Amino acid sequence: MVTDEVWKLPAIVNRYLSYRAAIPLAQEQIGIMMSILKTRQQPIEKFLDLGCGDGILGATILGEYPLAQGVFVDFSEPMLEQAREGLKEYSNQLALENLDYGDSAWVNRIQPHGPFDAIVSGYSIHHQPDTRKRQVYQEIYSLLKPNGWFINIEHVASAAQLNIDLFENHYVTARYFIEKNNGGTRTIEQIAEDYTDRPDAAANILSPTEVQCDWLREIGYEEVDCYFRIYELAVFGGRRPNN
Ligand SMILES: C[S@@+](CC[C@H](N)C(=O)[O-])C[C@H]1O[C@@H](n2cnc3c(N)ncnc32)[C@H](O)[C@@H]1O
Repeated sequence: MVTDEVWKLPAIVNRYLSYRAAIPLAQEQIGIMMSILKTRQQPIEKFLDLGCGDGILGATILGEYPLAQGVFVDFSEPMLEQAREGLKEYSNQLALENLDYGDSAWVNRIQPHGPFDAIVSGYSIHHQPDTRKRQVYQEIYSLLKPNGWFINIEHVASAAQLNIDLFENHYVTARYFIEKNNGGTRTIEQIAEDYTDRPDAAANILSPTEVQCDWLREIGYEEVDCYFRIYELAVFGGRRPNN
């Protein structure tokens, strides 16, 4: 299985969630997302977390805006189960939707929940081919309120092999220490081999941030930029204009 469908496998879900702490500056990326959302004059009332996984991005929004209503979309039942469990305390403010946003019919299912003050996504849309990525950005635009933000925390293509190597080195080393602290005995070399052979890597279709920001501008988003970048990870997005 080399498509994004690998995310429906409990083993892939468990591995990603167990080693998310190995992602470089992951907390800072979410912090930047929140700083952007906090530039709004009003609180977030409605948001959408697309490819939510266990709902980490939406959970952070709920922490800051405890009255917000959140829609969490994913097509992996094991991931949605993690979100359901982790977000129990907000259960009356959530809609969890098992949907594949690779198919544009997802918009019809989500429209009744919207429009949204913010749509966020973490490390997910890069599984779509470029043509579909651009359509998803257009669909997201159609679901936003005027002044609503789209923030994508994303795995992007790097122009330099150096960035790819630095990312792998960071991830593998961090994962080695996480395993070691949990009593693991694998060597860095074994973990590096496992990283190279990971089944979800084949599902990645990475595109440069500059190209994706250009699509957002063409669609009509404003304030479009890459707000942060480390190695192959970027926080980028834009705002739907007020009119
Ligand atoms: C790497 S995980 C990221 C989870 C979470 N957003 C985070 O930041 O930790 C990618 C998530 O996107 C979901 N996903 C990938 N393709 C999808 C699609 N076409 N429709 C819905 N969810 C998708 C996967 O099931 C998985 O939960």
